[in-house]
Amino acid sequence: MKKIIRIAVIGGDGIGPEVLAEGIKVLKKVSEIDGSFEFEFTDFPWGCQYYLETGKMMPDDGIEQLSRFDAIYLGAVGWPGVPDNISLRGLLLKIRRSFDQYVNIRPVRLLSGAPCPLKDVRCEDIDMIVIRENSEGEYSGEGAWLYRGKPNEVVIQHDVFSRAGTERIVRYAFELAQKTGKTLTSVSKGNALNYSMVFWDSIVKEVAQDYPEVSWNSVLADAACMFFVKKPQRFGVVVASNLFGDLITDLGAAIAGGMGLAAGANINPERKYPSMFEPIHGSAPDIAGKGIANPLAAIWSASQILDFFGYDNLGKKVIDSIEKLLVEAKVLTPDMGGSASTSEVGDAFIRLLK
Ligand code: IPM
Ligand code: MN
Repeated sequence: MKKIIRIAVIGGDGIGPEVLAEGIKVLKKVSEIDGSFEFEFTDFPWGCQYYLETGKMMPDDGIEQLSRFDAIYLGAVGWPGVPDNISLRGLLLKIRRSFDQYVNIRPVRLLSGAPCPLKDVRCEDIDMIVIRENSEGEYSGEGAWLYRGKPNEVVIQHDVFSRAGTERIVRYAFELAQKTGKTLTSVSKGNALNYSMVFWDSIVKEVAQDYPEVSWNSVLADAACMFFVKKPQRFGVVVASNLFGDLITDLGAAIAGGMGLAAGANINPERKYPSMFEPIHGSAPDIAGKGIANPLAAIWSASQILDFFGYDNLGKKVIDSIEKLLVEAKVLTPDMGGSASTSEVGDAFIRLLK
């Protein structure tokens, strides 16, 4: 009997649904070629349009509805007219938090044929995996806003670093470094953040004791940004807090082909809850509805779905096909210097897979 993998699809806003459509084409094709499993997709019309109609980004029982799926495939969240903190706290961040998706895996890998703004780098120089803490830290959402609008107005935004939360992400990164044979770099900022990051550094040191064969080091976040540009080859597995991970992965995307290629997986490693897969480029209102959005990041995140369900060989096949498409450079969207539409790229991709 065929294994069925049930995917909740939240296209969301702007180009989200357009790019997911191509990722879904790819997943369908890959499972058809393999023959041992099948994806079942269910659409959820949530996002900013839904908010403008109902006052909510998703229904009250949205999380409960999603909990019945094996995974979530998310397009993009955010649209002019709905404040970002409302749309994101009401959907993307709510899902990450509710399903304890505490690991955010963001590959930063330069494929052949992908544009790179750095001078004199080879593909093998940029090949890292950033493990971003995804459940607490600077994104705790805790704080206070006192005396609004008064001269003595005060705003407090708390970072929350729990021992359990810090240990589990650092351990995940060390496990990955051990498994892949890559070095591990912890990105922090203990010279300025005297509680959160001094604590983070001490946990990294502690956990490292359990992995004597992993070679690791700690780099200050500002220096890490400099090294991403100057010496990207020094990074293998990188582990960082929620906000630092956010910042360095945009920088990572910029050096490894651009946002048009950047994918991220929000993982609950215990598999108690569904994990979520997304291109990280956002809704791109300026080109939404024109059919020219680059679907390659959504397709890359489809490969992360395949990896997650144990079909690594197929995930790799998808990445190899992205590389072929880039090297051929015949069917690409305008952001990559081509003139193809979103669906033309998807169709060309399917032909390559066969
Ligand atoms: C990302 C995004 C989100 C984040 C925003 C949209 C809240 O930038 O997934 O990287 O900061 O996590
Ligand atoms: Mn980001």
